[in-house]
Parts: sequence; C-alpha cells; structure tokens
Amino acid sequence: MTTSWESPSNIALIKYWGKRDTQLPSNPSISFTLSKCKTTTEVHFSEGTGVNITLDGTDKPEFIPKIEGFLERIMHRHPWLSSYNLQIKTRNSFPHSSGIASSASGMSALSLCIVEFAQKIDFKFDALNFYQEASILSRLGSGSASRSIYGGLVVWGGTPTLENANDEYAIEYPHIIDPIFKNYCDVVLLVEVGEKSVSSTAGHALMDNHPFRSQRFSQAHQHLSEIQKILKTGDIENFIRLTELEALTLHGLMMSSSPSYILMKPNTLKIIEEIREFRRESKLPLSFTLDAGANVHVLFPAAVKEKGMAFIKNTLIQYCKENRFIADHVGSGPKRLTNFEK
Ligand code: DP6
Repeated sequence: MTTSWESPSNIALIKYWGKRDTQLPSNPSISFTLSKCKTTTEVHFSEGTGVNITLDGTDKPEFIPKIEGFLERIMHRHPWLSSYNLQIKTRNSFPHSSGIASSASGMSALSLCIVEFAQKIDFKFDALNFYQEASILSRLGSGSASRSIYGGLVVWGGTPTLENANDEYAIEYPHIIDPIFKNYCDVVLLVEVGEKSVSSTAGHALMDNHPFRSQRFSQAHQHLSEIQKILKTGDIENFIRLTELEALTLHGLMMSSSPSYILMKPNTLKIIEEIREFRRESKLPLSFTLDAGANVHVLFPAAVKEKGMAFIKNTLIQYCKENRFIADHVGSGPKRLTNFEK
C-alpha cells in the first residue's frame, strides 16, 4: 500500500531556539507556512523490515541512518512500523544545495504518509486527530517540522496567552488576523548554498548553558503575546520591528553562545542594510527575517508585490549566489496526493 503527500517548508517569525527532552521546545514559536518551497514524498509499505530512499529518482543510502533514527523515535507511538519495510521516494521543489532547510518539509511529508497508512491499517494512535498525530511525529523528526502540518500562521509551544498552544504538537493560529497577513510574500534570497557550518541541532544544544537563556525564553513568551495584538490589528510597523528583532536575536544568541559562531555572511548584512534603507526612503513595508543560516527572507504584503520584486531584482539580487532567489508566499499547508508522479 502506498501513501503520498506534499508538504511545505515554513519560516518562523518568533523563533524556536533551544529544546529539551524529546524535541520539546524551550520557548513558543510562530511561523508562516510557505507554498512553493515544498517536499513531495511517497511511501510504499510492505511486510518486512528496512528502509530505502530515493531523492529525485536517485538512491540515497546516506539518508537511511537519519530516517531509521526517526523511525526509532516514533516507534513507541507506532509499534506496527517494526514489521514493515518502507520504500520512500522523495523530491524537493527547491534545489538540494540551496541552503534551504528541507527538514521541515521533508519530515512533515514523511510523517503525513506514515499517519495516513496507520489510519488505513486501523491503528489507533494516541493523539486526538490525524493532523495532531502528524505534527507530533514531525516534531520528533525536526522541531520546526511540527509547524508545517498546517497552512497560514502556525504556533508551536505552550504559552499563557494562547489557550491551546502546547509543546507536543503545533496548532493553527486560532484567532482572526488582519487580511494583510493572509497572503504575505516571502522571497528567499540565496546568499549561501550548501551545508551550514553549524547545524541547528548543535545550535539548539548551545542554548542549554547559554548565559542569556532564561531572558530569551521569557522574551519569546512576551513576543508571542505582542504578536497576537499585531496580527489582529494589522499593525505592520510593529510587525516589522518585532520580527526583525527576533531574527537578529536568533543570530545574537549564536554569536553569544560558547563556543560562539556566526552564520551570517557579509552579503547577509549588506541585504539587511539595503532593506532598512529602502524602507526608510520608500516608506514601503519591506522587512527581513533569517533562519539559522546566511540566507535572507524578504517579507512584504502582497499589495506591494510589484515594487518589492522590482527592488529585489534591481538592488538585492547582486548579493545572491548566482543571482538566485525563490519568490514564495504564505500557503495553505500540506496536500494528500493520489499520484506521486504528477
Ligand atoms: C532557527 O527545527 O531545524 O529555524 O529540531 O534540531 O531539527 P531540530 O531544529 P530545527 O530548528 C529550526 C530553528 C530555526 C527557528 C524556527 O524554525 O523556529
């Protein structure tokens, strides 16, 4: 029996940085789910054991240990997996070497395939519904993947100002938001392609003994409370202030951990400066956020798309590796597919 899903990547506005126990976050986070940056995965389940995996039709034995580790981590919830062989075919919409993390889209697509199969064989899982179970499994694969299970704005991690938010699985942002945030644009500028010098997993671990640890975690709760007012009222000025502060705080935490490290590149800073200058002069609401790497996500409302894209093509493109960027926007979340080849 075969199941197939496509699942998008996401970009955090308030960042998950630091974790405990079995991939539980040290602080709450909220993200935009993207649309074009996605992974498509098909899993063929048959009786037996073992895993094999192809990426774009090519065998990838080097991915097997990571997938086996993931399957072991979810086995307590899905013991049936121990008597199945999984043949996994996967492909990413973005190039493997683009520096875009494929773990959120990849782990969520695989988790959705597994939960759908579990449902087909009538396995009763612990979570309340299909998507909660898929988010729990995704989280166990990669923390940020827990948020890729839903479209739009997604929250992961318990926080006093959001009733149903919790550390186990992500939830769709439950309140009404200003329409300006519904189809927000995110253009990913590829500053650096290839492997990062320090993995996210190593970066999270450095939060364990970080001198600013408790301040940071309480700041994230405070930011989650602030962003809810911003989302409701469409307060774009404070949206920009808060999300840029979050991005720079993330990198500030990296720089102030021990050992310290820097993932931004000279062109990352050039782009940040250009965006801030453009915003001052044009009064247009263009801003940036960063993930744990050198690439820059340029954020702007769909209403200024034309001017935003012109600025990127005229000014920012010179700072991108081989002039590469991916013009994405907020999307509606994963889709079940009936045919992987399509
Ligand atoms: C900076 O989810 O990639 O993108 O849980 O170890 O797989 P693991 O880490 P990962 O960390 C993502 C960190 C971030 C911020 C975020 O997405 O919230």
